[in-house]
This record gives sequence, C-alpha cells and structure tokens, in this order.
Amino acid sequence: MTKRLTTTGGAPIADNQNSLTAGARGPVLMQDYQLIEKLAHQNRERIPERTVHAKGWGAFGTLKITGDISKYTIAKALQPGAQTPMLARFSTVAGEQGAADHERDVRGFALKFYTEEGNWDLVGNNTPVFFIRDPYKFPDFIHTQKRHPATNLRSPTAMWDFWSLSPESLHQVTILMSDRGLPTTPMNMNGYGSHTFSFWNADGERFWVKFHFKTQQGHAHYTNAEGEAIIGKTREGYQETLYGTIEGGDFPRWTVQVQIMPEADADKTSYNPFDLTKVWPHDEYPPIEIGVMELNRNAANYFAEIEQAAFSPSNVVPGIGFSPDKMLQARIFSYADAHRYRLGTHYEALPVNQPKCPVHHYHKDGNMNFMGQMTGHRDAYYEPNSIAESAKQDPSVAEPPLKISGDADRYNHRDGNDDFGQPRALFNLFDDAQKARLYSNIAAAMGGVPADIVERQCKLFDQVHPDYGKGVRDAVAANA
Ligand code: NDP
Ligand code: HEM
Repeated sequence: MTKRLTTTGGAPIADNQNSLTAGARGPVLMQDYQLIEKLAHQNRERIPERTVHAKGWGAFGTLKITGDISKYTIAKALQPGAQTPMLARFSTVAGEQGAADHERDVRGFALKFYTEEGNWDLVGNNTPVFFIRDPYKFPDFIHTQKRHPATNLRSPTAMWDFWSLSPESLHQVTILMSDRGLPTTPMNMNGYGSHTFSFWNADGERFWVKFHFKTQQGHAHYTNAEGEAIIGKTREGYQETLYGTIEGGDFPRWTVQVQIMPEADADKTSYNPFDLTKVWPHDEYPPIEIGVMELNRNAANYFAEIEQAAFSPSNVVPGIGFSPDKMLQARIFSYADAHRYRLGTHYEALPVNQPKCPVHHYHKDGNMNFMGQMTGHRDAYYEPNSIAESAKQDPSVAEPPLKISGDADRYNHRDGNDDFGQPRALFNLFDDAQKARLYSNIAAAMGGVPADIVERQCKLFDQVHPDYGKGVRDAVAANA
C-alpha cells in the first residue's frame, strides 16, 4: 500500500513536485517550509569520512563455534555451539570515500559480534602484522599515505622516506607489495585480529591469543595491470561483487582459527609476542580451528548500517581481554574518540551499533539523546544508590589481573628487535614468479622517488635477503 508523504513533523504533503511561488513565474515564498526542509536536510547529508579506511564494503552474518576452547575462555560467544549475529566491514586504508576499490593497499577486516554479553569488535586487517609497532608514529605514518599539503597529491617519496627510516615496516611492506596486496574481492582474502589479545577462563588463568579468519573462497589476486584495467571499467568492483554475491544467495565463509600462548611463554619467545610487526610462527603455536564466519545479509541502507558502523578494539566481553601491545593500547583510546567526533556522542545507540543485549549505564543527556535514561529506574540518575531496580556492577565478570611491570620511560622500540627474520621467512615462501612480481610492484610504487631514498630502502631489503635488494634495484633500473 502506498504510504502518505509527510514532513519530518508528520504533516501530510499535498505537492512534492512544485514549489510555492507568487504567481506561475514568481519567486518562491519563505513560507514554503517543505522546500526549505528538503534543502536544509540535503546540506546535512554528509558526515566526516573516516580519517583512515574511508572506502568500505560491508554485510551482516553469523559466527558459529564448532570447536571447544572453553578451557581458555569464558566468552559465551566462543563456547561450543554458540551462534552470534555479526557485521563485517572491509575497507582500503589510504583512499578517500570515493577511491577506487581495486587499488593496491592493505584491506581493513573489521568485525562486530553482537554477543549476549555486549558487542565484541575485532578491528583487524587482511594482514597479520602492521607497518609500525609504536602508536606514537601512527599519525606520521598515515600522513605519508594521504595527500601532500601543497600538491594535494599522494606522495611515493613521503611513503618510501618514512618506510626506509622505519625498518619495522619491512614485514608489512613485503606483504603489501606481494600478490596479497591486491585481492580480487573482499571474499578472497584472509582476515587477522593482528594484535595479541588475551583469553581468561573460569579459574582466572590468562592466555595470549591471536585470531585468524581463513577465506574458504580461496585466495585470488590481481596484478597491478589487471587492477588498473578493472578500475578503468568500474571504481566500485568490491561493492558490486560483495553485494551481488550475497544477494545471489552465495554466502562467503571464513574458517575461524586461534593461536593460543600460555601466559608465561611471553617471556620465553625469541620475539616480543606483543610486537604488532611479528607473527607467531605456526609451528610454535599451531592454529586451532574453532568455527565458521558466514556473511549472508546485505545492509538495507548503506549509510545507516555500514557508514555509521562504529568498530572499536575497546569493545571486548568477559573472557576476552587486551595485552601489553602498545599499538592495541593506543587503539583502545582512539576509536571511540573518533566515533564521538564522526558520529556523535550517542553513536552506540544507533541501530547498527546497538548491542543486542540489555544496556544500562549512568551517562546522561547530550546531543540527540533519544534513548532517555538507561539506569533501570526513574530516580536512579547517580550511583551508588539505594534503589533495588537500578543498574549495579557485577563482580562475577571481573577480569583477572593483567601482569605489568617496568619503569616508566620512552624506550627505543627499535632496540633489540629483529626486523628482518620474519620478512625473510615470508620471502622464502614466494616462488620465483611471486618474487618477480614483488620486485616489479615495489619498483612501480617507487616512481619519482629520489635515488638516495630508493637506495636506503634497498639496503633494508638486502638485509632481508640479498636477492630481494638486487631484485628491486634491477626492477627500478628497468623502469628508469
Ligand atoms: P607457515 O609456513 O606455517 O605459514 C605461512 C603463512 O604464510 C600461511 O598462513 C600462508 O597463509 C601465508 N602466506 C602465504 N603467502 C603469503 C603472502 N603472499 N602474503 C602473506 N602471507 C602469505 O610459516 P610461519 O608461521 O613460520 O610464517 C612464515 C611467514 O608467513 C611469516 O613470517 C609471515 O610473514 C607469514 N604469515 C604467517 C602467519 C602466522 O600467523 N604465522 C599468518 C600469515 C602470514 P595461508 O594459510 O592463507 O595460505
Ligand atoms: C579505522 C586509528 C591501527 C584497522 C580507524 C579509525 C581511526 C583509527 C581513528 C577511524 C575510525 C572511524 O572513524 O570509525 C588507528 C590508530 C592506530 C590504528 C590510532 C594505531 C595506533 C590500526 C591497526 C589495524 C587497524 C593496527 C589493523 C590491525 C582499522 C580498520 C579500520 C580502522 C579495519 C576501519 C574500521 C571500519 O571498518 O569502520 N583506525 N588505527 N588500525 N582501523 Fe585503525
């Protein structure tokens, strides 16, 4: 049945085609509120785009747990047989909201699980590591990925200047420039929680954990030339494919795995297990399969459900905790702060962000507060109070203490770290053809970069493997 068109105040509209004018040829009247309302709303349609990961594609689905890791965590969403509704948003990092989908870049892999004990967000990437290990460098790093202030162009010189001065970036740079740096679709890539998180169990024991989401669609990648050909035809290739595949009933799936490290092992590993530029080798900490993630429903309204989605590593639930990873610690602050700026004070009350469990808190008032008082009782607007029905803390969900020690100082995060061993292990996995594409992708990305910066970067590649440095130098020379 046709619905009656109204103003936002609910009053019926008789004519949505013709403005109210003085005579057929005359000017419009100030009293045409319906015209003013349309123009005013249009002026407010845009919100700030995400400062990073602005271009994205998302869908809803389900996490099903088939394995049994109950001895490691009390998290209800991770118990055998649990099924949890979820949202995924994939993204590129550097491009703006209108950027082309098939660009070489790291892909975001952000997940929100609507558990019965609150939202649990894993805001990861399609890579298990990151460019930096100290959050102090994040704004500087991102500035090198965004536009130059004078030219308003992206600057390969800035990128390679920064990377060549930051050897900890080698691992991530190698993945980015390898085949996996340009997946054909968001469905044909893995996702990684990347950071080390922790599990805690009913006995109060803590375990360190890494999360992996392995594509069941198989890895598939484009070369730079293939990516450019697609962008020439469509800039929205990921949106078209992800939306179309789910609409066609062909639901993409990922096998969910965890790597578990006993708490005390963290002092014994040859690498710092809380360093985001490192993986935990599979032979030391074998992945344990725990379930399947499936995407099976498209958003009905992209803006409301994908653009307004607010993911944050601070969203954990009982049984899941943080780790000393410096990068994770900074992200625990950064995301909710970004959401309050981008979406507003009450962003968590928006339907896509709203937990699917009872929510009670004592935050009050604020812009656009449409949920009223959340404390459980009219007279309870402070705490502690003597009102039985009001919301109270629950000590049964207290997390075991996180062991931390050390003198406060600005420790040199580049001291005592092997930045070359793990990139070398990756390099050694590549066959000759993959290596050749790695060299040529790097050379292509170095177009216009001054020779001294190129050479400084090649000296880092030399330390990963002499073939790596030589291969890149030869590919750069071939492009000259
Ligand atoms: P393994 O041989 O046990 O694992 C190798 C891993 O490398 C597999 O997970 C594989 O992913 C992945 N891989 C294969 N090709 C690429 C590529 N082009 N880009 C990124 N990853 C790729 O060895 P280790 O566990 O000792 O790790 C060796 C190296 O593999 C690491 O230094 C790291 O660079 C990379 N890696 C390791 C991961 C880990 O958690 N240990 C996770 C991902 C990468 P898949 O299973 O999907 O084929
Ligand atoms: C988005 C900050 C590192 C993955 C964002 C946003 C900010 C941010 C402010 C925009 C949020 C929004 O407006 O909704 C930071 C900081 C980091 C950091 C300060 C380091 C100190 C990382 C790392 C990863 C990551 C290491 C992955 C392992 C993502 C993803 C998104 C995102 C996937 C997009 C989320 C979405 O789809 O909405 N980041 N980030 N970030 N970040 Fe980070």
